[in-house]
Amino acid sequence: MSPDDIDNNPTDNAALDEIIASHLSRRTLLKMGGAGASLAFLSGFHTPGVAAAAAGRRTPKYNSHGPLLGFTSVPLSIGVNDIDAVVVPPGYTAKVLYSWGDPVSDGPAFAFDASQDWQAQSVQAGMHHDGIFFFPHNKKKLNSDHGLLCINHEYVDQGLLFTDGMLTFTPEKVRKSIAAHGVSIIEVQLKRGKWSVVRPSERARRITGSTPMKVVGPAAGSPLLQTTDDPTGTLVLGTLNNCGSGASPWGTYVTCEENFNGYFGWDGTYTRTTEQARYGIVQNGFDYRWHLHDPRFNVRLNPKEANRFGWMVEIDPYKPDSVPQKLTALGRFKHESAAFATTSDGRAVVYSGDDERNNYIYKFVGAVPIEQALQQKVSPLAEGTLYVARFDAGTAVGDEMGTGVWIPLTTTNPALAVFNMTIDEILVHARVAADRVGATKMDRPEWVTVAPDGRVYTTLTNNSRRGGSTSDPAENPNSIADESNPRVSTVAAGRGNQYGSIVRWTENGDPGALTFTWDIFILAGDPANPAGLNGYKPGGDINGAIFGSPDGIWADPDGRIWIQTDMSVPGVGPYVNMPNAVMVAADPNTKEVRRFLVGPKSCEVTGVCTTPDQRTMFVDIQHPGESLTFTTIPGQEQAISNWPDKRALGQGRPRSSTVIVTKDDGGIIGT
Ligand code: FEO
Ligand code: CA
Ligand code: CA
Ligand code: CA
Repeated sequence: MSPDDIDNNPTDNAALDEIIASHLSRRTLLKMGGAGASLAFLSGFHTPGVAAAAAGRRTPKYNSHGPLLGFTSVPLSIGVNDIDAVVVPPGYTAKVLYSWGDPVSDGPAFAFDASQDWQAQSVQAGMHHDGIFFFPHNKKKLNSDHGLLCINHEYVDQGLLFTDGMLTFTPEKVRKSIAAHGVSIIEVQLKRGKWSVVRPSERARRITGSTPMKVVGPAAGSPLLQTTDDPTGTLVLGTLNNCGSGASPWGTYVTCEENFNGYFGWDGTYTRTTEQARYGIVQNGFDYRWHLHDPRFNVRLNPKEANRFGWMVEIDPYKPDSVPQKLTALGRFKHESAAFATTSDGRAVVYSGDDERNNYIYKFVGAVPIEQALQQKVSPLAEGTLYVARFDAGTAVGDEMGTGVWIPLTTTNPALAVFNMTIDEILVHARVAADRVGATKMDRPEWVTVAPDGRVYTTLTNNSRRGGSTSDPAENPNSIADESNPRVSTVAAGRGNQYGSIVRWTENGDPGALTFTWDIFILAGDPANPAGLNGYKPGGDINGAIFGSPDGIWADPDGRIWIQTDMSVPGVGPYVNMPNAVMVAADPNTKEVRRFLVGPKSCEVTGVCTTPDQRTMFVDIQHPGESLTFTTIPGQEQAISNWPDKRALGQGRPRSSTVIVTKDDGGIIGT
């Protein structure tokens, strides 16, 4: 589906001089926590450890609840007809809370034939749940029994969204499809041991692909963002393809726009620009057909509208009338998650991957301390410096560790100054700027998370275009394997990195440091599967439960690393032994991995958070029953899965859903 193999990085990166890391000490971290704790709202539940200290609940350290991994690993479901449910370990219970089409507040209930119009969809849960964070009802009290859930709705299966699927596409269908995107903010409460959605709720709302939002930061108003409908270049309608997300230390939700290019296309004759090609704009997009019925998405008629997507968007969940802000200082690319940290002088740091084959990992460092920005009533993310990562081999080659450099994407960087790039050009075309400074092409960077000890983890999901063979046109000779992306195969049938990996790093100083030290945390794989065995360490090095294609990742306040998977071809070839997507938990020190959750058939498990007390976990199940063509054919809605409603064939649709996981003894999730 995704024409995301455009990777025109011309740079041949040479190894830099070594910079020996001085690991960030625990002491320094605690000091940072102390500084951060003076902030109005330092979300202990999103900035692990630090927040706990702020709340005075317990000393932020690993293993404060006994062994990090206390549960029994769930067996893998084997065979595509084996399981169509959410399975969690003995002693745990999973319950569905909020599915596509459920009312956000007091709107209409879901119609299982998908006959409802766009107005109904705009007050119901969108499709394809993804990133999720919990915001306590009261910021200061850090409630664990009452709060707001912010939930991304990444994309849609238009075959499921309409009664007759993709047939007779119309402007009305485009409106409903747009309304099924964006973000849900719902109010949830625990009463007498049972979680439910509060309806009606004054705080609940839907943000969709047509909700007005404001552009802030250095590129706001840039000619690159000006359109006929918005000559100011500051007012955009909607957010799209909201994949991962983050929760800021000051209590806002930051949602990421990923594969925005897929919604745009053109009719007739149009020659795309170099930059549009670099961002994967193609004539028919991902076949959403919006561009044929809404001129906003036709790049021939509105060539700059696509420049207004691909950003991070900040939303204040506590103020239902607040206008979301597109944050240009954090650059435009296919954002996959927003992982927060704070510098020792109180400035915000945000990590984000660009999920496309052979693209980059970025870091934003705020210009002024968070508190100062908030006092001035501007976002701490409005102004700052964007960096892109270069991963070098370090002193020893082949040891799966090395050093790294954060390269500034600024007008004064000589590598960009020679091109006379203005700051708005650098930010709107961040990929082009990153190409020019020699960033390291990664194996599809997905989510990032910052652990309580300061180590930062990124999932590199897989890469079917990791080059190595200049004679094979499907491989990119400019993306040769390197130590941080070591897998390349010369076996054509199994070409590339099929299982993915997790790389982690420690900043050489506080999170604003310009250099870091990295290692490969886990190489995913399946040592028992000959179909997957080619390339570098094909079986991986997992200590415990096998998994592949890691995508979502989140470090909880105790330091457990929760890892979620999304395989595009479930149950066959390299994935014959792991047909369903899973969530595992890893111990960051022993690297032991246990399987905590197995999802329904052909789903993706993506998005995870807990309440501040860690006794309720929220997990999103995306696209149960997704077919290999990604678009359901009418009449085939339940051919693969009828989760979660389990309705009779022909009388329902599989629905992406938020699931609540609790421990039957009321304990901490993961113990
Ligand atoms: Fe939306 Fe890269 O997953
Ligand atoms: Ca090395
Ligand atoms: Ca993802
Ligand atoms: Ca998926």
